[in-house]
Amino acid sequence: MKVLIVGGGIAGLTAALHARESGHDTTLIVKGTLGDGSTRLAQGGIAGAHGEGDSPAAHAEDTLAAGAGLCDPDAVDVLVNAAAERIAELVARGVAFDRDSEKRLLLGREAAHSAARIAHAGGDATGAAISHALVDAVRRADISVSEHAFLVDVLTDPGGACGALLLIDGARRDVSADAVILATGGAGQLFAHTTNPAEITGDGIAAALRAGAVVRDLEFVQFHPTILVAPGPAFLVSEAVRGDGAVLVDADGRRFMLDEHPEAELAPRDVVARAVARHASAQDAPVRLDATGLGAELLAARFPTIDRVTRERGFDWARDPIPVTPAAHYLMGGVATDLNGRSTVPGLFAVGEVARTGVHGANRLASNSLLEGAVFAARAVAALEEPRRRGVIAPAAVRAGTREHPVVFDTALDPHVFSRAALQELMWAHAGLLRTADGLAAALSTVRAWRSSRPAPRTVAEHEDANLLALAEEVTTAALARPASVGAHHLDTHPALIGVA
Ligand code: SIN
Repeated sequence: MKVLIVGGGIAGLTAALHARESGHDTTLIVKGTLGDGSTRLAQGGIAGAHGEGDSPAAHAEDTLAAGAGLCDPDAVDVLVNAAAERIAELVARGVAFDRDSEKRLLLGREAAHSAARIAHAGGDATGAAISHALVDAVRRADISVSEHAFLVDVLTDPGGACGALLLIDGARRDVSADAVILATGGAGQLFAHTTNPAEITGDGIAAALRAGAVVRDLEFVQFHPTILVAPGPAFLVSEAVRGDGAVLVDADGRRFMLDEHPEAELAPRDVVARAVARHASAQDAPVRLDATGLGAELLAARFPTIDRVTRERGFDWARDPIPVTPAAHYLMGGVATDLNGRSTVPGLFAVGEVARTGVHGANRLASNSLLEGAVFAARAVAALEEPRRRGVIAPAAVRAGTREHPVVFDTALDPHVFSRAALQELMWAHAGLLRTADGLAAALSTVRAWRSSRPAPRTVAEHEDANLLALAEEVTTAALARPASVGAHHLDTHPALIGVA
């Protein structure tokens, strides 16, 4: 079978290796160079119930609780029960997870986990270790790799997906395939502040939509609470630092999370991110992450990347608390799939962040994303052996029907003059961490006006803009259709607090 995989993070690389090892004629296309994308930036690690006294059932319980009642329990079950096998596969492919003197995995603790269950490598360089090992394996395998190939569209015929239209060196090229597996990641570039690399522009979700696939849960965007406030590219300070004992303090040095949630700094990520934003807004200055209690030696040994980068940016985090702020981090929603990565278009699969498998609900549990990518990529490839069919997707979680919204524009923006930066600011202000129905409606009107005035895209940047606009319309529409706050979708009644950076 000819299998085309789009995207080179853990999900795409795993899918490519499994497809090749199953004897398929495998092509992997990536937008930049192999190894780019979000996976290589992942710090915390990959979740799995390996610890003494821990169990997949406890991992499932934490995942369901973080998801605020909107996870698909069957998908969660699949996820947690496949963790050991997928982590063993990563080890076999050469990922050197950190271990104790008896060669047992060292396990980190992260927010909303009831046990230490995060396997990590290189201290805080887990994603890079996974990416290097899988890229090496792909390069050694008989997989055709096409770099700097942009996915314009998924090609379909009456039987479903039959290939992809690519843009390579400015030229359009059709590639035929018996199955297309999307592994293109999320859409962090929708927002002015994001941990995602520049290439993460929602291309796979937008292409799947155009191919007729059902998408779901796009209102659920996860904001990570602790991004270093410093000039330069957004730099995430892992939740594992809080798992090891760092605390969040306000301008008076007070641990404000103690008043917010019984788990304080280890509350679910959406709770911590909102509290950080609110306190920053109230004091008109960023809050600080105080890791000084951990000691210089531990910080350097356990978090070498964070230690290096914070020092490069002028901070000594062993001595002083560092300023942090939330940024868009992860899209819980995406292309709706069944438990085998099948979308509603026969022959079109989605794995990793591009997919909405149902494992994250309204708020993803930390370090479940690398796991999801590996688990569902393997399952999607296994499903290629079965007769081609449409994925049967569980019904959407209860929400209001789509309503008409008044056309109101964001008065700070000219609805006729589009720029990507303006879109990102609009989404940050109105579809971010704290939302209002009026703000969302204004964002939707502005996005629709921009969309209707854009010429047909030709260049990669123009296609990315079109994809971001399509996603912005989906995200705001989905958010407007959910009138009550849940998980990462939070409607705020205090507009003054909206849009803190
Ligand atoms: C982190 O290390 O804090 C990020 C982990 C994740 O997004 O799961």
